Parts: sequence; C-alpha cells; structure tokens
Amino acid sequence: MTTNANDQMPAYSEAVKSGLYAKKSGLTGKYDNVRRLWEDEITREHLRPHLQKLIENCRQSMRRIRILDLGCGSADGYELLAGVRDRDASLQAFEVDLLTPDILGLYKGVDLNADLLRQAADLYDANPKMVFEQADFTQGLPVAPSEEPYDLYFSSFGTCSHHNEDESMIRLLTEIAERTKRYSIVHCDWLGRYSYEWQSLWTHDLSEHRNMDYVVSYIYDKTEREARRDELQHLNLRLVCRQEAENIVAEASRRSGVGIRPLRYYDRSVFTGRHMDTGDYNRQAQPIRTAVNSLHEMNMRTDLSTLMVDYVPRSEFPFLNQYYEHLAACWNFVVQHVAKLLELFDEESREFSGPIPDPPVACPEPVRKALIRMKKVVEGTGWYGRGLPRENIIEQQLGYALRHVVTELQQGQGCGHGLVGIFEIEK
Ligand SMILES: C[S@@+](CC[C@H](N)C(=O)[O-])C[C@H]1O[C@@H](n2cnc3c(N)ncnc32)[C@H](O)[C@@H]1O
Repeated sequence: MTTNANDQMPAYSEAVKSGLYAKKSGLTGKYDNVRRLWEDEITREHLRPHLQKLIENCRQSMRRIRILDLGCGSADGYELLAGVRDRDASLQAFEVDLLTPDILGLYKGVDLNADLLRQAADLYDANPKMVFEQADFTQGLPVAPSEEPYDLYFSSFGTCSHHNEDESMIRLLTEIAERTKRYSIVHCDWLGRYSYEWQSLWTHDLSEHRNMDYVVSYIYDKTEREARRDELQHLNLRLVCRQEAENIVAEASRRSGVGIRPLRYYDRSVFTGRHMDTGDYNRQAQPIRTAVNSLHEMNMRTDLSTLMVDYVPRSEFPFLNQYYEHLAACWNFVVQHVAKLLELFDEESREFSGPIPDPPVACPEPVRKALIRMKKVVEGTGWYGRGLPRENIIEQQLGYALRHVVTELQQGQGCGHGLVGIFEIEK
C-alpha cells in the first residue's frame, strides 16, 4: 500500500501542538537546572527531618497529615513536598517518598492569583485530597474557624516577601500559633536582604530598602530582556535578614503567648540566584546561574572559567565581604581543582599524569570532601570515552560538589537569594 507523504503529516503536527514534542532545556526558564537540582533539592533536604517528624506524629495519633500552602501558585509546593525522599531507605527499596498517598489527609493551596489557581486545579483536579482557594494572606490566616488545624504551614520561593509590612506577617504567624492544637511546623521563605545579586541595596539601617522593586527580567535571555525592558513586570518584595526574621517571629510569639521556636535558618542560592545573570541590581554580578545550568545540562561542555566567582567587595560591609570572599575562594578552588584533574587525567593509562595539588591548610572540611569525591569521579568515569563522560558525568558531579560546598558553608543570615526559616510550634 502506498501512502501520500502529506497524509502522514497531521500526526507530527498534532505532536507539536501537544507541547510534548518541545525540546526540553534546563538552561533557562522557571524550571531550569538550578531550580530542579539545587533549589528544590536543598529545600527538601532541610525540610526532610521535620516532615518526617510530622508524619511520625500523625501516625502515632492515627491520623493523616494536613498541609496548608500559603501562596501556592500552581502548586509547585506540592510537587516539592511530594519529592522529599526517605534518605534511610535501602538501595533496594522502591517506595521512598515520605509523603505517600495514604498519609496525606489534605493539601490546601491558597493564592490570590486566579490564573495560577486555575492552573493548579487543572493539574490536580483528579486528586480529591487537594483543594485550592483564592484568598489574600495579608488579611489574616485563610482558614475558616470550623477547619481543623494544619500540621504544616508551608510557603516557598520568596512568598513571605509578599508581606510588604511586617504587621501582616506577624498577624499570620500569631494566628497559626493560636490555631495549633499540639504541634505544627511553619516553613517561611523570604528574599535574602544581603544577597550579592542586589549588593547595591545593602544597608546597615534596616529601615531602609525594606522592599525592593523586583523586576521579573530573568525569564528572558539577555537580548530579549533588553528588548522588553519597558514591558517587564515588577513586584514589590520585602528583603529580610536573619535579625528581621527573628524579630517577626519573636513578636508573633509574644502576641500569641505561644513559643514559635526556630529550628533552622538557611540561605538558598548564594551565588546562583536568578539576578546573578541579569546584573540588574549589581553590575559586578556574573552569570553564575547560567554556568551552573550548563554544568548540569546533558551533552553540553562548560567552559569552567565561566564558573569562577570574582567577588567585588562593597566598602563598609566587612562582615559580609569576609563571608563572601571566603565562600568565593572555596568555590573557585573546587572549580580550579577539577579543571586541573581533567588536565592531568590520561584516558589511556587511566591515571593522573602528574601530582595533584594539595588543598590549602585552611581548606574547610566540605571543600576537602568535594575534592576527594571529584578525584574519584574523574578516575572512575574519565576513561569511558564514549557517551561524553565529561559533559554527562563529571560536570554534573562538579555541580553537586559546588552545591555541597555552598550548602555546608552558608550561615542563614540572608546572604542568598532566599532566606528560609523553619519553625516549630509545640503546646
Ligand atoms: C514567588 S511565587 C511562589 C509560588 C509557589 N509557592 C512556588 O513555590 O512556585 C509567590 C506566590 O504568592 C502569591 N501571592 C502574592 N501575594 C499574595 C497574597 N497577598 N495572598 C495570597 N497569595 C499571594 C502569588 O500569586 C504567587 O503565586
């Protein structure tokens, strides 16, 4: 049977229209490689022990977990939580999710934006345990008096910075504390006041630059960004450092008469925030996020020199300069060390052709660990030849090594794109 070639074309057109034929790239966009492999994973890592404890508490009291996502958008928070894995699971175990369907009682997502809520509802309308409601969280806790309290009050990716005035954030936390029956966890996520991305906004006087004019310019590449400069969307977002977060929480504790105990503060995306690439608020910022995205991109060879951070200090901020200088030195040392390993490794003999430089005496433990691992990675995979070992194995591992270094050396002071605080309320 002969067929007309044109008759076959609708099948391809259909596939294109479905969007499923689109080329997936982790180099740009909301869900770039840094978002998926660094930001989501780091958030999960910090949350894991607390989610584990909540689930165990629920099991002990023979009920299921209830989650309220404040500012849920299209429910990325659910995806994030559902992806928290049990680290102790054995390699043979297949079911490793913490939040299994049987333990989830309710996930309620609240947001002010109707379009995002519609997107969330479309994605999850098959799951009756997921509900979405439109509400403004600056007007108080969007929970009806008849509703059972929640176990986890969650917000992600800078959402708490939509509280431009501390009063509404304090009120929200106060109400959460009052509504907690016995135990709950609150996950707060702000924009870090002292991120290198917006070094021009740093201040010693915390009454200055409380909210920043945050341009959503990073979703475009450089050329398009400049072409669309006048039509870019702006958000007014609160910048928060550790001290400010502590003040907010202490005031909510005082008003509710209930202890809101900080369990952990951490800085997320210290050199890899989205505005590193735009340089919109710091002309010295380098496109480090682009470089890290490239490290994790399959089949793409990264020019390792693009990963080198040349931190430019700002006078009158010695404490911050010291922290960033040290972190940059650690980061750069790992990059240079791996470049050296690649240069020295001989694929034929599967050995290094010369001595590998020792780390400096003052090298912190996480960096030492990263160097040891990277040597093993290059030795173990550098000889494969076929399948692009550098692009698809070694560079990805370098990405994880850098992630390890910044995660271990961050101090939770508001020096990353995001400052996250995890709190416990126990009555
Ligand atoms: C940075 S996005 C984060 C969205 C989502 N949580 C995520 O992780 O991708 C902030 C979200 O907060 C929502 N939002 C902003 N102000 C709000 C308010 N006053 N009440 C409720 N939601 C708000 C926005 O619509 C947006 O979906």
